[in-house]
Amino acid sequence: MAKQVYETFSCDRVTNAMLTEAAKLFNENYGTWGVHADRPGRPVKLSARRLREQYLPDATASSYTRVTVDGNLAGHAFACRWECDGKNLCWVTQLVVHKDYRERGLATILLRSLRTDVDDIYGIMSSHPAACLAAAKSFGRHIEKIPLGFISTDSDAIMKASPIPYIKDAKLCGTLFKPEDTIGLVSGVNTSFFIDHEAPLEALRSIRETYQWPLGDLPDGHEYLLVLERKHPRSKSVVPNHFANT
Ligand SMILES: CC(C)(COP(=O)(O)OP(=O)(O)OC[C@H]1O[C@@H](n2cnc3c(N)ncnc32)[C@H](O)[C@@H]1OP(=O)(O)O)[C@@H](O)C(=O)NCCC(=O)NCCS
Repeated sequence: MAKQVYETFSCDRVTNAMLTEAAKLFNENYGTWGVHADRPGRPVKLSARRLREQYLPDATASSYTRVTVDGNLAGHAFACRWECDGKNLCWVTQLVVHKDYRERGLATILLRSLRTDVDDIYGIMSSHPAACLAAAKSFGRHIEKIPLGFISTDSDAIMKASPIPYIKDAKLCGTLFKPEDTIGLVSGVNTSFFIDHEAPLEALRSIRETYQWPLGDLPDGHEYLLVLERKHPRSKSVVPNHFANT
């Protein structure tokens, strides 16, 4: 049986060698640019340096969680944290699983592994519905029962408080925020991220055969938005320890 190892590192413990490996995983497995992007059909790429600058900024309690399968890097998740109205936010800024290891629960366990005792609210923006399924499950909700009312009332303030520019500046879209919206989205953001949607839309078709999918359709340049409160409020006595696994 394959040996899976999940590890979480706070930003100051992530080495350049780890980021070089993470960039390779991303570049070979994340996806390709869509027809409306500058380089259609080419892989979406990131360098180790951009991973450090954009996903592990010093100003946030950011972290890198990875899974190896028999010693091979099979997936990773980046997260960053900030506060809003006395609540601790944990936002998943990147999630990718190697093509050879998908649909085995790795994304779900990666997200479960990055949780800490002090998180109050989790968020993710993603163009892949499987990432939303994984997030809902890991953060304690069934996708069919996610509290849409909370997303509608609290997302704006939470995201505006983010130290990460693309989260802070994301434009909320969908009928949750604008009931007159006709683009088919229920909860999402317009990020002008024109990744090819063929694989996510195929996954969406399949997921809709199993679940009542609550987040709507996925127009080009948009991503789904999921923001969830932790299911059981944290105990006030918990001593902050952001990265219990390192
Ligand atoms: C999205 C991604 C991370 C999912 O990784 P994964 O390890 O395959 O996910 P999991 O195995 O944990 O699956 C989570 C759920 O989605 C379902 N799922 C995963 N891929 C699916 C697919 N292609 N079609 C239908 N359902 C799918 C799983 O069955 C599971 O559902 P369940 O909870 O009902 O069992 C992976 O497909 C990926 O890296 N995609 C490219 C990058 C990307 O789009 N990342 C998200 C941007 S933040």
